[in-house]
Amino acid sequence: MCGIIGCVSSLQSNIPDGVEIMLGGLERLSYRGYDSAGIAVLEENRIKVIKRKGKVAPLAEEVKRVGLQSCIGIAHTRWATHGEPSDKNAHPHLDCKGHIACVHNGIIENYLPLRRHLQQQGHTLLSDTDSEVIVHLVEEHYTGNLEEAVREAIQRLIGSFALVALSQHHPHSLIVARKDCPLIIGCGQGGNFVASDIPVLLSYTKKFIILENGEMAKISVDGVSVSNFSGDKVSKDIQQIEWENGKVDKGGYSHFMLKEIEEQPKSILDTMRGRLNSDGLVKLEGIEFPAGFLSNLQRIYIVACGTAYHAAMIGEHIFEDLLRIPVEVDLASEFRYRNPILDKRSLVIAISQSGETADTLASIAEAQARGSRVLAIVNVVSSTMSRQADWTLHTRAGAEVAVASTKAFTAQQIALFLLALRFSQHAGRIAGGIMEDIAHSLMALPAQVQSILDNSKPVLELCRWLASKDTGNNSGFRFNDCFFIGRGLDDPIAREGALKLREISYINAVAYAAGELKHGNIALITPESPVIALLTQDRVRGKMVSNIMEVIARQAPVIAVAYEDDGQIAEVIPPIADLPSQIIRIPRTIAWLAPILASIPLQLIAYYTGINRGCDVDQPRNLAKSVTVE
Ligand code: G6P
Repeated sequence: MCGIIGCVSSLQSNIPDGVEIMLGGLERLSYRGYDSAGIAVLEENRIKVIKRKGKVAPLAEEVKRVGLQSCIGIAHTRWATHGEPSDKNAHPHLDCKGHIACVHNGIIENYLPLRRHLQQQGHTLLSDTDSEVIVHLVEEHYTGNLEEAVREAIQRLIGSFALVALSQHHPHSLIVARKDCPLIIGCGQGGNFVASDIPVLLSYTKKFIILENGEMAKISVDGVSVSNFSGDKVSKDIQQIEWENGKVDKGGYSHFMLKEIEEQPKSILDTMRGRLNSDGLVKLEGIEFPAGFLSNLQRIYIVACGTAYHAAMIGEHIFEDLLRIPVEVDLASEFRYRNPILDKRSLVIAISQSGETADTLASIAEAQARGSRVLAIVNVVSSTMSRQADWTLHTRAGAEVAVASTKAFTAQQIALFLLALRFSQHAGRIAGGIMEDIAHSLMALPAQVQSILDNSKPVLELCRWLASKDTGNNSGFRFNDCFFIGRGLDDPIAREGALKLREISYINAVAYAAGELKHGNIALITPESPVIALLTQDRVRGKMVSNIMEVIARQAPVIAVAYEDDGQIAEVIPPIADLPSQIIRIPRTIAWLAPILASIPLQLIAYYTGINRGCDVDQPRNLAKSVTVE
């Protein structure tokens, strides 16, 4: 994964000090990883490197302490793949003489034979990373021309890379190259830049060159020249980007996650805005299919990772209900390796908040190579996925900073629902009256979400209880396990609730389709494992109540998420002595939209339990917001 930023400016330019730009950039790139960070600059024509384990702050402190300043350099924030997070494994890496420095995002799959070869040639490699071989290969090929040396070095790499090289023999330029990891060049006045994404550079320029796979570039103060890996010059357009520098802050909240949870009435409304009228007619900008495409459609695949995968599972139910076309949902990391049956009669829908997830991007490429069209549901407008897909439907959740996805998830559900409606209207499958009811339910959602947020007292009590201490327990906490159960559309929400609680509070939270409990999983149910049961799907309510009775019979404490008008559930669930209320209420809506409302209390449960257990909720251990390696 990892985030990269580099800068070449002239002392006379009005661009601030390169070190300041790069440190600020690393903060903004931390969504790509935050286990260590480093910077290499040229100071008096010598490379100076500072690297620190941990987030950007310790690096920034050290940089300030030594008074590092320069107008040319490269910097990196890491998410460890090969080698633990440590000072030595942080980038930039240096060649043996300390004359060349390199940062890398991606994975070098053949690093072991390369490492062995380099060691036999007398190179000393200091880290445990795959990335370090790159700078030594550049050193091996260097005969006075850095660009040529990088070009020759990358011919020997198998895997993915976005990389930037800096050499003290070439104090006015950086060499960059890209294969399967994003890299963009920012063209400023008096300086040029390279980075993993566009937003990080928007304070300095609005002019960008987007590098494609197989391209490399020499970036100097006064120009950029792009070539391919064979050395042929490539002519590139400079794109003028009109977005604002959307730098986001916590806006008075203690954490981005809570801010983003509370933004959902707005993000849901924004995702619907201008796309749905009160008769239920849906218009989706930029989504026009060629004649006959929808009527010939035989199968839809929905691919995604993490939280977006749970949105995909919800999409499967909705599309099959509304369209009666077979839908398959796949984890993007599995999809491309399982030889899926794809042709021009199948549509692949890819869902991603970031639009940069490596496995999802690879699935899109695989589908397109096999003749299928791809529609992406993406939050980040500038992302690789938006450019790669045949059609893009943007969720309008706004910038999501917390690693755990919340508002993007509910926006993805809205986008999927609008899309399913659009398809079924096109196919003439839904009658006008039903459409009006659906539109009414959709439009009621923002206020309903707000009412859940405004009435969160039972959730807060539950979270205090879930995070209660127990000094007799090794972990120091009373509960270390928690189970989520649901049926139908409650199953993906149970999975999402469990994922959220796991990643934010480190409780071992697991979800089961409630009907599967009896097939082994019930063996784990004990009085020490609370069960959170979802009851929003009336079609399977009776069966769900039976499953709840089964866990009650095993003395598990049960908490239910149920509609406000579900009086009966209170009679089913035995009280828990030290928990005032164990029923979390949500307003009634139609079954297809219930997952949106049920998501909200589960997000709050994860957030407040994490807070009560003293966890770093915005940047949990070992995670990254954007997973850019496979
Ligand atoms: C990471 C993030 C998750 C996210 C997943 C997929 O694991 O921590 O929050 O759901 O990647 O990311 P995407 O950007 O493709 O939605």
